[in-house]
Amino acid sequence: MVLKKVLVLHGPNLNLLGCRESKLYGATTLEALNSQLVAQADVASISLECKQTNSECELIEFVQQARSDDNVNLIIINAAAYTHTSIALRDAFLAVQIPFIEVHISNIYAREDYRKFSYLADIAAGIIVGLGTGGYKLALQAAIDFLDHKLNIKE
Ligand code: DQA
Repeated sequence: MVLKKVLVLHGPNLNLLGCRESKLYGATTLEALNSQLVAQADVASISLECKQTNSECELIEFVQQARSDDNVNLIIINAAAYTHTSIALRDAFLAVQIPFIEVHISNIYAREDYRKFSYLADIAAGIIVGLGTGGYKLALQAAIDFLDHKLNIKE
């Protein structure tokens, strides 16, 4: 049986989770978060890979490879600061046409004005903001339900 694939992409500075501005981003490290997500995916018989980069170029390459090399069915992405700046990342998602869920740990609408705009939001299947690192778990559950045909989201 070929397992459905979910790719989790973490953008810049998320490698510092657990020690970075913990009032905003919590105490969970990226390693611990990724392990929790892999365990959740295993239970649902979904293949899950997590990648982090600080580079905009590499983030775009991960999105492109998700279509060309990896046959990924759905992407969960926290593009971090590139959310607010990267037309190139938006174009990569438009090019690959893989459904994706945008996650932000903090509530970007309750912060500085420059964080209130996302280049990804209107083309995302769904968005989870402000629920801490637990937001990834909810996004993965939505992904699992979608891949099991129990949830209808925009593709
Ligand atoms: C973030 C919010 C962004 O504005 C910020 O640049 C981040 C993290 C979040 O998860 O809350 O690095 O994406």
